[in-house]
Amino acid sequence: MKKNSLSVNFCGVKFENPLILASGFMGISASSLSYVEKSRAGGVTTKSIGHLERMGHTSPTVLAWSGNILNAVGLSNPGIDQSLPILAMMQKKIKVPLIISFFADTDTNYAKVAQKIVTLKPKLIEVNASCPNTQDDLGAPFAVDSNALKILVRKVRKVVPKSIKMIVKLSPNVPDISIMGKIAESEGADAICAVNTVPGMIIDIYARRPVLTNKSGGVSGKAIKPVAVKAVYDLYKAIKIPIIGLGGVETGQDALEMIMVGATLVGVGSAIYSRGMKVFKHIQQEMTEIMKDEGIKNLESIKGAAHG
Ligand SMILES: Cc1cc2nc3c(=O)[nH]c(=O)nc-3n(C[C@H](O)[C@H](O)[C@H](O)COP(=O)(O)O)c2cc1C
Repeated sequence: MKKNSLSVNFCGVKFENPLILASGFMGISASSLSYVEKSRAGGVTTKSIGHLERMGHTSPTVLAWSGNILNAVGLSNPGIDQSLPILAMMQKKIKVPLIISFFADTDTNYAKVAQKIVTLKPKLIEVNASCPNTQDDLGAPFAVDSNALKILVRKVRKVVPKSIKMIVKLSPNVPDISIMGKIAESEGADAICAVNTVPGMIIDIYARRPVLTNKSGGVSGKAIKPVAVKAVYDLYKAIKIPIIGLGGVETGQDALEMIMVGATLVGVGSAIYSRGMKVFKHIQQEMTEIMKDEGIKNLESIKGAAHG
């Protein structure tokens, strides 16, 4: 088997392997993301950056349970103005493809953040339209309202030149994600990332109250993998633009499953908690082994194979 059997082309950008760090893990410092790069991630996504500085929710905000995570971090971040020099440093330091993720409270503010990010001339940006645990102060996620999503993608596309590839990150919390994917595609998205976390809650029965201060949060990890796999399957049938499959990927088998339903890149987030930083290297080794046994020469040859 050739050494580069895992390499993929995503929106014209070459990734040495399809495994990318999901947004929200390892923050937005250049040193922590370059640590992930050293762990052999094929690409890295920054934590979502907003219009203004946000403190996020009050602790406890993250709970690990049965190999999964429930979080209500609440999009804490320093805001775009403070983040721009950090992002510029990252662009210099990180050699694998970097995806800059962002969010805002209104579509107009999304466009304002995008305008600032494009001054850095990144190759890839991700519009996080789908954070589920900030309804109280940010309103319902754009990605659960077809009209809001349409206007959002249109407004952001207007300020993002075609040379910068725009990924739109969708929510699994909708009856039919393929409708949302089609809307994003028709308004100019270059790719889709699916999925963000699934809303959930855990109760401390001794305290007789939810464990998180925010009460509810977003569920991630292996518990949501079948949800994510179906989302990618449905999107692949409906749209032509490439997909980042994300949600519960922990092993080489999981990553191949995502590719077989139609993902080009595969995001890895919560598995860092369950398998440690070497998870990127381990998943690649597992993928290579399965591919060798199954006579799979490259990932393109099995992309969407589950659709028959
Ligand atoms: C602690 C935590 C923080 C997150 N922060 C963000 C974020 O800032 N932006 C975003 O788009 N997604 C964020 N996510 C969602 C992840 O990027 C990903 O969509 C989700 O965790 C599912 O993938 P996984 O099961 O591999 O973790 C966060 C998830 C967790 C657990």
